Amino acid sequence: MPKHLVSIFDLSKSNFKKLFKRAAQFKKEKKAGKSHNALKNQSIGMIFEKLSTRTRVSFEVAINDLGASCLYMNPSDMQLGRGESIADTAKIISSYLDGVIIRTYEQDRIEEFAKHSTVPVINALTDLGHPTQIAADLFTIVEQGKKLDKIKLAYVGDGNNIVNSFIGAASILGINLWIATPKGYEPDSNVLKKARESGNGSIEIVNDPKKAAENADVLYTDVWVSMGQEKETRKKQKIFKPFQINDNLLKLANPDAIVMHCLPAHKGEEITEEVLEGPHSVIYDQAENKLHMGKAILEMFLKE
Ligand code: CP
Ligand code: NVA
Repeated sequence: MPKHLVSIFDLSKSNFKKLFKRAAQFKKEKKAGKSHNALKNQSIGMIFEKLSTRTRVSFEVAINDLGASCLYMNPSDMQLGRGESIADTAKIISSYLDGVIIRTYEQDRIEEFAKHSTVPVINALTDLGHPTQIAADLFTIVEQGKKLDKIKLAYVGDGNNIVNSFIGAASILGINLWIATPKGYEPDSNVLKKARESGNGSIEIVNDPKKAAENADVLYTDVWVSMGQEKETRKKQKIFKPFQINDNLLKLANPDAIVMHCLPAHKGEEITEEVLEGPHSVIYDQAENKLHMGKAILEMFLKE
């Protein structure tokens, strides 16, 4: 059975520690111009059913840097786009490939693919989670000198895929996670239940962004309208107005707090331009770290 990364819960605490260490090494080596052949002669497929800039490009570069070749597949160019089953697609393309990276809608789709795949499957975002993003983000927090089991991490915004993966990570790594969402936009209840039953982090859900931001060490946000929810844009723009990371909210956090966003950002909605570009922001480091963490993940799941 191949080892898949379809959910954040597929990672253990020791996996995270190893990923942070390897991502730091890959980052150093990239800057020094050192090349790798960890995945030499491998062919890795990427099926993306939603748009992507960072995840797609960083994984493609990571694959090239590790000596493997990458096949980017748009589902509308595949028989999958005309109704061929996920099971058949998985059985067949996994007989050609050494690993598959998938971005799709329902979590069931990637789970179904993984069930029938003979090679590792990596989740590059679903409606339910974004584990590779959260691994890169946690690495960024560690890189900033913060200890994950000592910080207050405040997420302000929609209870979406990003926050679901943070909830899983909080339970695995013992993070004190505060989540502020409008009523009715809380994170996935099954993910919360699983995290609360299995883990050792503390997860507080509130409807007041100030409560979450008070004395926070990390302030994190994401778009109010995720991919696939475009019809809800106008409604959400109204409801989420108080859930913006701006100077006033930032003032409530610790003086050395960092501000994070997985991007793409809608400046003036979930975050102001001043804060995004300001001295507390590590948002562009986060984006860069997707490359280094992508390599660490590929090595862990495809080489070991
Ligand atoms: N953060 C992130 O996943 O960005 P993309 O949608 O551009 O891949
Ligand atoms: N929550 C966002 C994240 C994008 C990286 C979305 O799913 O569109």
